[in-house]
Amino acid sequence: MNILVIGSGAREHALADAFARSPQIHRLIVAPGNAGISGSHNVKNLSAAAETIRFCREHAIDYVFIGGEQPIADGLSDALRGAGIKCIGPSRAAGRIETSKAFAKDLMQRFSIPTAAFRKANSRSEAGSALAEFSYPLVLKADGLAAGKGVYIAGNPAEAEAAFDTLFSNSDRTEIILEEFLEGWEVSLFAICDGEHFKTTIFSQDHKQLFDHDMGPNTGGMGAIAPVWEAEPYLQQIESRIISPVLRAMREENCPFCGILYCGLMITAQGPKVLEFNCRWGDPEAQAVLPLLATDLIEICRAIDTKEVDKLELKWHDACSVSVVLASKGYPSEPETGFVITLPADHRNSISFAGVKAREGKLITGGGRVLTVTARGDDREAARRLAYDIVKQIHFEGMQFRTDIGLRSNPPKTMEIQ
Ligand code: AMP
Ligand code: GLY
Repeated sequence: MNILVIGSGAREHALADAFARSPQIHRLIVAPGNAGISGSHNVKNLSAAAETIRFCREHAIDYVFIGGEQPIADGLSDALRGAGIKCIGPSRAAGRIETSKAFAKDLMQRFSIPTAAFRKANSRSEAGSALAEFSYPLVLKADGLAAGKGVYIAGNPAEAEAAFDTLFSNSDRTEIILEEFLEGWEVSLFAICDGEHFKTTIFSQDHKQLFDHDMGPNTGGMGAIAPVWEAEPYLQQIESRIISPVLRAMREENCPFCGILYCGLMITAQGPKVLEFNCRWGDPEAQAVLPLLATDLIEICRAIDTKEVDKLELKWHDACSVSVVLASKGYPSEPETGFVITLPADHRNSISFAGVKAREGKLITGGGRVLTVTARGDDREAARRLAYDIVKQIHFEGMQFRTDIGLRSNPPKTMEIQ
């Protein structure tokens, strides 16, 4: 089988590693990939949809696997399918579950899917009047894609006004969402969907804040663990009250969801509630989850494509993974890049590259999140120790990372959830 993975981050590197483990793989290409991915996989720059279509035809690509949300928002999956090329990734219309928070919240409300109470506001003055309906802390979100940077938690009216200054900085008429603040602990769950049927993966958990003990600004994700067995007691409820209804809702909207549905969940005292849906694997969750996948990823593509996910059997290695993101100084606001990266001699299967470039034959930093280190172990602590042993062997100027990935207790000790 010939596979083309679309994307350039650590998630796409982890996807390519997972495809490379398939005994069915013949040709594997990552587009555009990056200078780190090119050390272990073929990469190719394909700038426009037409070029991708031509490449798929010339290289007899069996499945295109879209890694991130941007190509879906840009309509790549529709363009490929329109050209008769098999693509794993939802249509642009189904991608709205992620690309428009207003669409997702309306859908959840209409189908009684548990989520935070909310109000939409289309202008600064509407947002200002809606404030009266909420208590603090209050969550404010931009409607569209914001790469994890569009969420503000305001502790008081002054902070809400400051968030409005940013959210309405380009225009006073922008759609935003005001949301009740949910208390609980966060977990991610992926559902492999063919529009009608789904199979859930193991649970995973992102560590979104920049600093240890969940302090500091939100980032795209500083680390992940899998599996999160502490969330297993909620699985049945999540499947019946969240995933089944959202798939039904998407069918009724005439945009059945086919691909990987990411459920970002808060386990609250009232049970699991949806924080967000995404239309793809998470980053860095994929780096932790995919190494534990014992089922052939090509079989997963086939099941989605033939709409036989009900017959798909997902198998997992009996192990734990811990993934630690190494980021540039200044991330997430203003990353400083261009520094040489020193790596351990053998890092196959333990490093997924993201913001990296090549300069004079050396790998240098080229983005905020530079790479993810992932280790597997018999238990979480063993995986954690191994991951940080690898981290110790990596260096670049200004390297920042969290030292507590895999140490969090779920639920947090301060919470009592029955
Ligand atoms: P989102 O992009 O909507 O997932 O939000 C990013 C992060 O903000 C989430 O992972 C949560 O940590 C936090 N967050 C978002 N919405 C809420 C909410 N309603 N209550 C509490 N925290 C939230
Ligand atoms: N880990 C968060 C995301 O992928 O959106």
